[in-house]
Amino acid sequence: MRYYIADCHFFHESLNRQLDCRGFTDVRASNSYMIRQWNRKVRPRDEVVILGDFSWGNAKETNSVLEQLNGILYLIKGNHDRFGEQKDYNASRFVWIRPYAELHDGGRKVILCHYPILCYNGQYHLNEDGSPKTWMLYGHVHDTQDQRLIETFQEITANTVLAYKNGESRTVPSNMINCFCMYSDYTPLSLDEWIACDKKRRAARKNILPRGLSRLEIPGREAFLPSPGTPETDGPFISEAPDPDLR
Ligand SMILES: [Fe+2]
Repeated sequence: MRYYIADCHFFHESLNRQLDCRGFTDVRASNSYMIRQWNRKVRPRDEVVILGDFSWGNAKETNSVLEQLNGILYLIKGNHDRFGEQKDYNASRFVWIRPYAELHDGGRKVILCHYPILCYNGQYHLNEDGSPKTWMLYGHVHDTQDQRLIETFQEITANTVLAYKNGESRTVPSNMINCFCMYSDYTPLSLDEWIACDKKRRAARKNILPRGLSRLEIPGREAFLPSPGTPETDGPFISEAPDPDLR
């Protein structure tokens, strides 16, 4: 089985109080929680593609986490993965480290990059039954206003009709999924599990304002406003356990 996850940010102390407001007391607590969640799911022979920003720690610190995680690891490099520039990190723990990759997964194609790609390779390709052939998996934006803008772009794209001169028409697929670790309770998920998780999250959290903003206005759609009674910081986002039947 192959899993994906983005933006774990091991050793990134400030994310417990700022940006993500993860709600852990310190990095020891967040690191140990993420390791436990990872190893509850991933078996030693499973593959995990990390979509960047794996660790804010130095090489020695990051090595200590890598030694504790199950799985065969691949890293799409993020802007915070500076441990990879230090000579003493355990490079043998990764099969490869790349800025971008295209892989096959269960008869589909996945486009993998730390940064969201709005117009990705294979975007228009569909199977005979009309289901998408290609998915773009990304990270970087966490659960911020940038993610809301991407979601808005996807809605606009999905509702855009291309009418051709021969009378045919079609809409444009935009199958982009933010594999942000907080969306899966810090658990690596398979492609099918991410598809289900993304659908459920969008339905449940539509129009919820990203942390730190009082208002977000996007032309052509209803403004994001604070939901009554929603606390500014609600700790780690705990989703339901992924459905084992999806594996
Ligand atoms: Fe990140």
